[in-house]
Amino acid sequence: MRREGIDVVDLGPGEPDFPTPSHIKDAGVAAIGDNFTRYTPNAGIAELRHAICERYASDCSVDLGPANVIVSAGGKQALFNVAMALLDPGDEVITHAPGWPTIVDQVLLMGARPVVVRTHPGDRFQVRADAVLEAVTPNTRLIVINSPGNPTGGLISEDDLRRVAQAAAADGIWIALDLCYDRLIYDSAPHNLAKVLNETWPERSVLIGSLSKTYAMTGWRCGWAAGPESLIAACSNIQSHCTSNASSIGQRAAVAALTESQECVTRMRTEYRQRRDTLLEWLGEEPRIRCVRPAGAFYLFPDISELLSPDTVRTSLAFTTALLRRVHVAVTAGEAFDAPGFLRLSYAASLEQLREGVDRLAVFIADLDRGNVHA
Ligand SMILES: Cc1ncc(COP(=O)(O)O)c(C=O)c1O
Repeated sequence: MRREGIDVVDLGPGEPDFPTPSHIKDAGVAAIGDNFTRYTPNAGIAELRHAICERYASDCSVDLGPANVIVSAGGKQALFNVAMALLDPGDEVITHAPGWPTIVDQVLLMGARPVVVRTHPGDRFQVRADAVLEAVTPNTRLIVINSPGNPTGGLISEDDLRRVAQAAAADGIWIALDLCYDRLIYDSAPHNLAKVLNETWPERSVLIGSLSKTYAMTGWRCGWAAGPESLIAACSNIQSHCTSNASSIGQRAAVAALTESQECVTRMRTEYRQRRDTLLEWLGEEPRIRCVRPAGAFYLFPDISELLSPDTVRTSLAFTTALLRRVHVAVTAGEAFDAPGFLRLSYAASLEQLREGVDRLAVFIADLDRGNVHA
């Protein structure tokens, strides 16, 4: 549509709208100037693995060494390596929905079986230990938890994670914790999940981190897994036969991101918080859109089922398609996250774009009410 000159308001993206902060870009440019353009060790340059350990030490009071860390092309590859290292056909993997679809699809790619537990808007989409533990069977090999979660912004509390980890320890089950959004939490709730796992079940816990969301670096492709040496060595083996190392240039930029001032992170978080609150207020003007105040990440995940009907649009997917066609607003249907009846609106967009998106949504709903929209 944009190529045809149509002015689309895009609230779909799962990535920051901010540019990568300049000191990080400068480090990437300097890496090129210094001819730092060759292969690096598979698991990443020592400087970066050290910087990742330093962040865990200072932010989480968790002690890790470089042998506990592998740098990958994004948190996504880090998770993939872990899935490939741990899973065999027939294994069960517990995760939660509404959730980021890659987790389930990676499990399926390994021939393993995803077991999905639901989280609920009435409970702010928190991942609850009871629900996870009820899903454990003798075949459970791994539990994957994403906190804050995409698309809901929901968290797992430290207490719930501790209970999950204690039970996992008793049964020898692995835990992978996807913390790619953990610098984007707007509540003051305690969320030192790395420490909880380190205290309860370090032998079989792996932390997934990423530069993508925290530092607006999605295109640089840099993330990591941190866990026991044997697992990290297995991941490194897998990665050596797949992509080798993450980009040398991105790794140098990542060192700058992790070791220099964190003021850019605070600045972006403050802006996201303001956008979250403003967008919630605007959406609140339509009582049939029911939206939880998300604790983290940069998405609202409203329930729009009251706006659906057999006479107009029946599903949230049909809703998003009609919304795009009629008023040129792009959002993601809940179906993508195993949650029909919901929409994901990204507030990684300027307040002007968000206002325009909400205005067009109101026009669309008015048309829907007049019976003018048919899927
Ligand atoms: C929940 C979650 N985890 C991990 C990632 C991976 O991000 P990246 O591979 O860019 O680090 C994403 C990206 O959208 C995500 O939403």
